[in-house]
Amino acid sequence: MFLSSNHVLYRLDTKNYRYLLLPVEDRAEMSNIKVLANNNQVKTINVRLASEYADYYVPLDLSKYAGHELILDIHINGNIRNEGAIKEWACWKQMKYSDTFDIANREKFRPEYHHTPAYGWMNDPNGMFYKDGTWHLYFQHNPYGSLWENMTWGHSSSKDLVHWKYEGDAIEPDALGTIFSGSAVVDKNNTAGFGKGAIVAMYTSAGENQTQSLAFSTDNGKTFTKYAANPVITSNVPDFRDPHMFWNDDIKKWNLILAAGQEMNIYTSDNLKDWKFESSFGHGYGDHNGVWECPDLMKLKVRGTNKDKWMLICNINPGGPFGGSATQYFVGDFDGHKFTCESAPDVTKWMDYGKDHYATVTFDNAPEGRHVAMAWMNNWQYAAQTPTTQYRSANTVPRDLDLFEYEGQTYCGVIPSKELIAMRGKKQNKLSNACELVLNIKGSSSVTLSNDKGEKVVLTYNESKRTFSMDRTKSGKVDFSEAFPVTTTAPVYGKLKQLRIFIDNSSIEVFDAEGKMAMTNLVFPITPYNKIVKKGKIKYAIYKM
Ligand code: FRU
Repeated sequence: MFLSSNHVLYRLDTKNYRYLLLPVEDRAEMSNIKVLANNNQVKTINVRLASEYADYYVPLDLSKYAGHELILDIHINGNIRNEGAIKEWACWKQMKYSDTFDIANREKFRPEYHHTPAYGWMNDPNGMFYKDGTWHLYFQHNPYGSLWENMTWGHSSSKDLVHWKYEGDAIEPDALGTIFSGSAVVDKNNTAGFGKGAIVAMYTSAGENQTQSLAFSTDNGKTFTKYAANPVITSNVPDFRDPHMFWNDDIKKWNLILAAGQEMNIYTSDNLKDWKFESSFGHGYGDHNGVWECPDLMKLKVRGTNKDKWMLICNINPGGPFGGSATQYFVGDFDGHKFTCESAPDVTKWMDYGKDHYATVTFDNAPEGRHVAMAWMNNWQYAAQTPTTQYRSANTVPRDLDLFEYEGQTYCGVIPSKELIAMRGKKQNKLSNACELVLNIKGSSSVTLSNDKGEKVVLTYNESKRTFSMDRTKSGKVDFSEAFPVTTTAPVYGKLKQLRIFIDNSSIEVFDAEGKMAMTNLVFPITPYNKIVKKGKIKYAIYKM
């Protein structure tokens, strides 16, 4: 029923089908869809319904509303002059019922051993925790398109941090807002009263203001119930988000850190519901050329000593060393109430010197006291333009964090998690689309990775300048954004002896094997790099991944 130039009521058949497949066109204007079940609004989503041509389909799950009278109340922000009367839009003929939704991969750039959403847009990793042999990863998901929208916590799980299974969406938007980033903890002692061993998540409800809400799970993170008395933390600061909770054994309380404008606020709690503001950190410290987001705070060992120190992670966008998004960190002391940075305020430290490493946070409750981090392998400068359609964005490989000292400063050590060694397949002579390249180097040297199309990436170690760089200006598809073709350069602390280079269909991550340098960059070669040319004293081995 077309009721006006921008309003449609669309009655659905819920009896016979599992899904309505919605045709999406990324260039089309936004349609705001209210799902009405027996006259009540049960869901709202924003979808770019195809006006001319469906780029792809997304599934609207009807099974939840079986037996209800269901109507889509659709407001279309279409421009009649440019796109024609909405009656003529392609979507009406192309919508279809189905009992299945095909998530078989259609993308050549989809990584083989990095986590990606089965379909739709992804940004930050959220609520990561480990329990009973399983790693859980939630993520900022748009289940209704490959651009940022409808923020929902998607869920994937893994036994080995490499093979991920999509578990569906775990936390969906509600009347308080869409579900922005946050964290989850395993409440072993039932401090919150949701049950022993319950998973308790806190996320930002992004409504008219940003507030913090709780949800809990008593089935190991599969399904969540929202806490009835949400929100649990409010503020009049406009950018107020991304709560990260953790148990602090030093003070036998829960701590929480969240981004509040250009600072990080710290809180304490006994029960995960009532939070007391303690202090804030950040004024005048580090890089402030962007919004502070997605914090984390943890106690880490300083390598080769018997010292522990605290590290505060602060993701910032823009303001990164090569433009756009990046992860900075501060090392110091934390007494459960206040974080004190040990470096001078003007010292800025970056965890990864590539362009595609953002929203880095760690898993709660990881075994053996490990601090395992994963980042969103993208950059807000061009995340919406990267050349994939079925899905957008991957996570980095998992990395174990520690600290090391060098020339009077303490830095974050970043080592590819040991699970990646177990993924090494056969040694091979040539590069391939998914492999690990291990370089043993002596002194200044370089390697060029290239394909038959002449696309290449140049990796250069300059021992006297103490730098390592990656040039992706001719790496393949680079013209989707002016901000993409760049060379990234990292400081090297000490001498590089061995590099571990993880190559996947659309990414290259380089690590100093000793964990003193990390560099993560996307690349989109038309065909995989299959040749190596080396300069200097280099020996290498290639493992299939
Ligand atoms: C960081 C971020 C977070 C926010 C989320 C929304 O990339 O902006 O601060 O919670 O993305 O998707």
